[in-house]
Amino acid sequence: MERTLAIIKPDAVAAGHTEAIIQQIKDHGFSIVKSMKTQLTRNEAEGFYAEHNGRGFFAELVDFMISGDVVVMVLEKEGAIKAWRDLMGATDPLLADEGTIRKLFGTSKGNNASHGSDSEASAAREIAYFFPNL
Ligand code: RTP
Ligand code: MG
Repeated sequence: MERTLAIIKPDAVAAGHTEAIIQQIKDHGFSIVKSMKTQLTRNEAEGFYAEHNGRGFFAELVDFMISGDVVVMVLEKEGAIKAWRDLMGATDPLLADEGTIRKLFGTSKGNNASHGSDSEASAAREIAYFFPNL
């Protein structure tokens, strides 16, 4: 069994899509190992997305991620990292496949409804970042 870190981003939480996204997660066979609704601090968001520090969209990304509540989850399933990225769809909702979470609930490349770890190393880092006791 593999674990990955998922976030329902502030745009999707504010728009009332949390339950629909959680239903999709369950329908696709993931277990939700941990879940926490929280508003990130600027420090938390900057540290979480540290790999993007210095890029043109970094300030916008951090401002967006702290703009409201998020739901941070640890998902578990065989091949969870790729399976969750596939279910989310491409970063830009315009390019995401039909039926994916970003296609359904994202509105722009920045406001794209969800996050998912992109590798085993990021999943380990990101899970420990939010759930150090796991
Ligand atoms: P994430 O980390 O949130 O799961 O997204 P990702 O892997 O698909 O994309 P990544 O390249 O890691 O970018 C992180 C987040 O930054 C925002 N972004 N905005 N305006 C832009 O050009 C731009 N590029 C990236 C998105 O919210 C993206 O999910
Ligand atoms: Mg990423």
